[in-house]
Amino acid sequence: MLRLRKIIITHFKNYGLSSFEFTKNVVGICGLNGMGKTNLLDAVYYSCFTKSYFTNTDSLNINFEKDGFRLESDFENNAGSQKIICINRGSGKKEFSINEVQYEKLAKHIGVLPAVIIAPDDVEIIIGGSEGRRRYLDSVICQLDVEYLQQLIIYNKVLLQRNSLLKRFAEQGKTDYELLEVINNQLIVPAQFIFEKRMIFTQKLIPLIEDFYQKIADNNEQVNFVYTSKLQIESFKEILKQSFEKDRIIQRTAEGIHKDDIHFSLNGQLFKSIASQGQRKSLLFALKLAQYQLLKNYKSYSPILLLDDVFEKLDEKRMNRLLHWVCNENGGQVFITDTHKQRLENIFEQLNIDGQIIEL
Ligand SMILES: Nc1ncnc2c1ncn2[C@@H]1O[C@H](COP(=O)(O)OP(=O)(O)O)[C@@H](O)[C@H]1O
Ligand SMILES: [Mg+2]
Repeated sequence: MLRLRKIIITHFKNYGLSSFEFTKNVVGICGLNGMGKTNLLDAVYYSCFTKSYFTNTDSLNINFEKDGFRLESDFENNAGSQKIICINRGSGKKEFSINEVQYEKLAKHIGVLPAVIIAPDDVEIIIGGSEGRRRYLDSVICQLDVEYLQQLIIYNKVLLQRNSLLKRFAEQGKTDYELLEVINNQLIVPAQFIFEKRMIFTQKLIPLIEDFYQKIADNNEQVNFVYTSKLQIESFKEILKQSFEKDRIIQRTAEGIHKDDIHFSLNGQLFKSIASQGQRKSLLFALKLAQYQLLKNYKSYSPILLLDDVFEKLDEKRMNRLLHWVCNENGGQVFITDTHKQRLENIFEQLNIDGQIIEL
């Protein structure tokens, strides 16, 4: 069981000082555009992930007219009540605590309060470059494997070091092969770890994505998902050796797990080049609900689901089926934003949902 009971938001984005109590499993949040619906969901997301879903630049989360922000959230899970406090004083480093105990490493918090968000721009995962798909995959695995995020942080740090080393070699016109070998070995360890985890978790995730896609699209389209990594073909050591000439010329690391991807195909062709709007939206929901289901399977309770402006996304019939599934069959807590209060009320009534509606 996982519930958010209350959140106190101070100077986070457009908020002054606001407090919200959540009394039901399904919470509808309504208000006109720009009122702070998405920001409220992001404050909840922040409490679960120690960061915003929408930006990596933490200063953008501080109210423009203030010097810092504070989030205080009261969660309840099987272990009891969990008070999360995050304070950003504008000095760069933030404080993040659970039940008054500061985290030494923020990464340790990921997965403690599992959550899944579906936001309007997420369709980029499907139509955009591979980075969005890696980010999706990482956000699935980070919440299931405590070591994963730490290894990813190490990999990215060493990758930057290797790239600046390649630049230095180019500037100096000579390569220090010994130093290169040292840094290669430092890169290989986290790369191998991440690769193996991605292999394991995509094997579990992909059947769920296919399943949800069939359910949502409601037809027999042949969809196919394949995790691809160069490390499937050769050891990373060998890859680094083979691509060194290229690395030297472009002055960065051409190959590695930072180039992994998930290929989506529809009837044998690249999904993003032939799929209709509706098919893209169906796939987006399939990806996110597969993440939800996988988390649920591992944790034995439902994660928190944050649905930002989803009503425009699918037709009413599909939307209702989905909402019925997440709100009535899962027992998890769901937050749904919408500009129309009436629409939320109607849906709650139609689907027999005993929900709470908050007006901003
Ligand atoms: N750091 C910030 N300081 C003040 N206002 C902000 C900040 N970040 C975003 N906003 C404002 O928040 C508002 C958008 O809130 P949002 O949650 O996206 O609204 P909604 O989802 O209800 O349409 C915008 O008016 C935006 O300018
Ligand atoms: Mg919004």
